[in-house]
Amino acid sequence: MGLMEWLPFGVYGLALATALAFGALCAFGRRKRLTGEPPLINGWIPFLGEALNFRKNAIGFLLTLNKKHGDIFTVHMAGKYITFILNPLQYPVVTKNSKYLEFEEFADQLSSQAFDHPPVINGKCPDLNERVHRNYQHLLGKSLDTLSDNVMRNLQIIFKRKFSQMVDWEMGKMHKFCFSIIFEASFKTLFGRDPHNDGYNVTDEIGEKFLKFDANFSYLALNIPIVLLGATKKIRRELLNFLNPKKMEKWLDVSEVVQDRKDIFENYTVLSDYDKAAHHFTFLWASVANTIPGVFWAIYYLLRHPEAFAVVRDEIDHLLQSTGQEKRPGDSIYLSREQLDNLVYLESAINESLRMCSSSMNIRKIKENFILSFEENNEVCLRKGDLLAIFPPILHMDPEIYEDPQTYKFDRYVENGKKKTTFFKQGKKLKYFLMPFGSGSSMCPGRFFAMNEIKVFVILALVYFDMDIIEDKQLGQGKDRIGLGILLPDSDIIFRYKLRS
Ligand code: HEM
Repeated sequence: MGLMEWLPFGVYGLALATALAFGALCAFGRRKRLTGEPPLINGWIPFLGEALNFRKNAIGFLLTLNKKHGDIFTVHMAGKYITFILNPLQYPVVTKNSKYLEFEEFADQLSSQAFDHPPVINGKCPDLNERVHRNYQHLLGKSLDTLSDNVMRNLQIIFKRKFSQMVDWEMGKMHKFCFSIIFEASFKTLFGRDPHNDGYNVTDEIGEKFLKFDANFSYLALNIPIVLLGATKKIRRELLNFLNPKKMEKWLDVSEVVQDRKDIFENYTVLSDYDKAAHHFTFLWASVANTIPGVFWAIYYLLRHPEAFAVVRDEIDHLLQSTGQEKRPGDSIYLSREQLDNLVYLESAINESLRMCSSSMNIRKIKENFILSFEENNEVCLRKGDLLAIFPPILHMDPEIYEDPQTYKFDRYVENGKKKTTFFKQGKKLKYFLMPFGSGSSMCPGRFFAMNEIKVFVILALVYFDMDIIEDKQLGQGKDRIGLGILLPDSDIIFRYKLRS
């Protein structure tokens, strides 16, 4: 794949111009490896360095460098120097060295450029960063119970409204199907509903715009100016209009987490309504952008593997039966957090699809020059301003850890009927073996809610429908989200579904 395919029209020109400008600079100022530093791979393209090779086949590219240079090396990509730690046994050094490594400023910069809010750190709002992070406690404990119950209720309302009158097979595109349901259920659960427009369907109102913005998110994350991304700026403004705090004031059934965010922002008179809306949009994006493909892949793999489908459905049916609930479409279901937690095959199947499709890079910025020490007296010197990265797909696709890693095995995370949490490399037990939600200080605060939402979606889909994929094609993974989250499918796929008899 060439540069033209990688970047949208217009961005190509910018990238080339930047590359040429930096070319002149680099001819004189190409970085050299200093004593004690990891092997350095500069790449031959000015500015872009090895970015295109990484994007073309991230795992293959890193493994080739691994063979040549060992477990730690620095790669020049898109103007940044990124030191990769490849051996999962060494991942814990990142958490251990948090004194020299920071995440929040790096994330703040990315988020403010993508969502257009003023920087939270060192900006005009003292303590805002701390308060926003404290707010994530509303995604845990009792608040999490309430959120999980509400998303279960909202998902059922949507399933009932959309499907309870179905009489025959229907066909649909699977990603579109998952998107429309998860977007609405997540929005209503977190942001509430507009009492003056009770019949509105938020997916119809802003779903298309959200998808268009999301399609260009990776370019914004790369700091490509939004003016080069077609209508993205206009679309972002329209989405922010929808989340205007004056409108949001009237919404009912708002979750604690969003209500508390609203209250926090109200304390800062320097924040305009636009700024506050941009913060709300950041949270909305975080709460659905990965959950939707997460749900999609969970269903896709179950339908592609009838033996997995049968075991997971049986587990769900059994639980419903043992709790005196009907498994007929349209009947209300209630499952506690503990009951959801005990569905080991369902959880394993979801984890397995996350293993195969998640691609979030765990990044830290190096605050000052320091020496990173590993076991067995190994150490490397790291430079201030560079990035340190863990790329979990390397772990997820490691045949020493996961036998036959390219194959979907729905019960990989079950052992003797219980959750399996012990995985090994070089005979040593791994602390990190599955990382779709990141690690350490940057770990996703919404992970428990996300898992519950995905579980409930799959439960309802399996209780409601008989389903199968009717298009005869194997889906691939899109490249846009590499390093940023759950990969999207490279195209949608047609499936059919009918109410379970
Ligand atoms: C399958 C679904 C999800 C996945 C795979 C996922 C993954 C992640 C990852 C990897 C990060 C860290 C990003 C980084 O290192 O740069 C993150 C951050 C975040 N996620 Fe999630 N997430 C999911 C769902 C959710 C949900 C449902 C919510 C909210 C209800 C949420 C809220 C957030 C927030 C607020 C952050 C930023 C945290 C911060 O400020 O440090 N996520 N997520």
